[in-house]
Amino acid sequence: MVQAEYPPAIEGEGLELRPWDEDLAAQMAKWGIRGFPYHAFDLGYLKDPARRASAIAGFREEGPHRHFVAVEDGTAVGRVSVNLRDPAGCYLWSVHVAPEHERRGVCRRMLAALMVYLERSGTWPGFILTSNSFAEHAHRAYRALGFEIAETRWHFDREIAEELWRVSPELREPIARHIRFQDGRWQVRNFVMRREPGTPMITRGAGRALRA
Ligand SMILES: CC(C)(COP(=O)(O)OP(=O)(O)OC[C@H]1O[C@@H](n2cnc3c(N)ncnc32)[C@H](O)[C@@H]1OP(=O)(O)O)[C@@H](O)C(=O)NCCC(=O)NCCS
Repeated sequence: MVQAEYPPAIEGEGLELRPWDEDLAAQMAKWGIRGFPYHAFDLGYLKDPARRASAIAGFREEGPHRHFVAVEDGTAVGRVSVNLRDPAGCYLWSVHVAPEHERRGVCRRMLAALMVYLERSGTWPGFILTSNSFAEHAHRAYRALGFEIAETRWHFDREIAEELWRVSPELREPIARHIRFQDGRWQVRNFVMRREPGTPMITRGAGRALRA
């Protein structure tokens, strides 16, 4: 397997971004889980040593994607992946902060550190991400970082669709206005969000001011 090249740790905003390794993956295996509708982010599978090794190998493999862990004083607090070769721009995905570390701006800070690094290291046509419309905490962070909704669409999200057949009406209710049953399957409303190069970012506790 050819390993992807990674820069030395990307530092900024009080944290550093490192590639996945055994120590960090073992820490992430212990992160709390959120369950439906965020079950796709749950990392409990990393407790199994074989699956952990396979995940680390996959995340270090050469290709268009880079996978970073956000680390504060040796503690894994978040993760984010980026597709450097998406035709639409530099595509951020798998944005995930451990529930134990949420509401401290980890999401905003790790994305800011990564985007500043990428902007400085080359010419990027801007950043893009997609996000299910119920992920309102994520959208607050994205807007503070200068992302705007470029498009709203309905899409088939296999993992959510499969769970929707199983979960109770109580669990489904909070996302009811974000889902619909059409053409024989469940669809989820999804935003395409874009950030133009150089757009100002607010990383520390000022999201509310920006929205006001
Ligand atoms: C969305 C997520 C990445 C946010 O991480 P975070 O580090 O807590 O984000 P930030 O601290 O930068 O906060 C973002 C905003 O959400 C708010 N927020 C985060 N968690 C919250 C909670 N449990 N209750 C209320 N508000 C919350 C913050 O207060 C902040 O709002 P503000 O701008 O008004 O201050 C994290 O909750 C997560 O991993 N969720 C599950 C996976 C997910 O949804 N990923 C994004 C998919 S597109």
